[in-house]
Amino acid sequence: MKRLTIPAIQGRKGGEPIVMLTAYTARMAQLLDPHCDMLLVGDSLGQVIYGLPSTLPVTLDMMCAHGAAVVRGSYHSVVIIDMPFGSYEASPEQAFASASRIMAETGAAGVKLEGGEAMAPTVAFLSARGIPVCGHVGLTPQAVNALGGYGARGRSNAEHAKILSDARAIDAAGAFAMVVEGVMESLANAIVAEVGCPVIGIGASAECDGQVLVTEDMLGLFERTPRFVKTYGDMAGRISAAVADYAGEVRSRAFPGDAQVYRPKA
Ligand code: KIV
Ligand code: NA
Repeated sequence: MKRLTIPAIQGRKGGEPIVMLTAYTARMAQLLDPHCDMLLVGDSLGQVIYGLPSTLPVTLDMMCAHGAAVVRGSYHSVVIIDMPFGSYEASPEQAFASASRIMAETGAAGVKLEGGEAMAPTVAFLSARGIPVCGHVGLTPQAVNALGGYGARGRSNAEHAKILSDARAIDAAGAFAMVVEGVMESLANAIVAEVGCPVIGIGASAECDGQVLVTEDMLGLFERTPRFVKTYGDMAGRISAAVADYAGEVRSRAFPGDAQVYRPKA
């Protein structure tokens, strides 16, 4: 199966919905890849894998290591890597240095960065230099300190207007797609209607051009999940049950059994 391309994703605006999930490891990438169009190496790995309190402490080293693993584990999906907090906001030049390192070290097809109007020049700078950029507007977790929490955005008219202009600015700057996270459904629908690039929703609207979730959330593996997550499995329960079986068999000496020990050939 040939790997999808950024232009193929762009061509999905208003068409068949884009299926996107997060992946941080090679094995998870292998399992998700046949079912997805895009895999996102999200900086949510800070909380999900590293037990950090937010995405703010996530480093470029972490994103490069996990990004390379996900590219190695996938053959079909377009892989996008989140630019971590502090690696791109200072200037378009800083963003290019960080993004080019991500591209070179991982083999990913593009990067994702958070922000609206203030980041538009950076999106244009990277896009013009061969680095496809996915935007991310609405609830932007790297701005949690400024936003005051992870609540849904766009409830007031002023916030609705601000996020809509953020989305327009990122689109006009040349983003190949954008994630819209944690916004009122009506705002998500307005963004979908107004911007030319595909809009990938998370806590947004069924009208988006695609959907993304954190894989550990939808698998029922992570301990806290936002209201917009639908869980499609109970991996935490499955793992607990399997580990309880293992612990019981070790303690009762039922494991290892005949099939798991080496003996001289008869
Ligand atoms: O880091 C992440 O997982 C994300 C998605 C939730 C869009 O940015
Ligand atoms: Na992210």
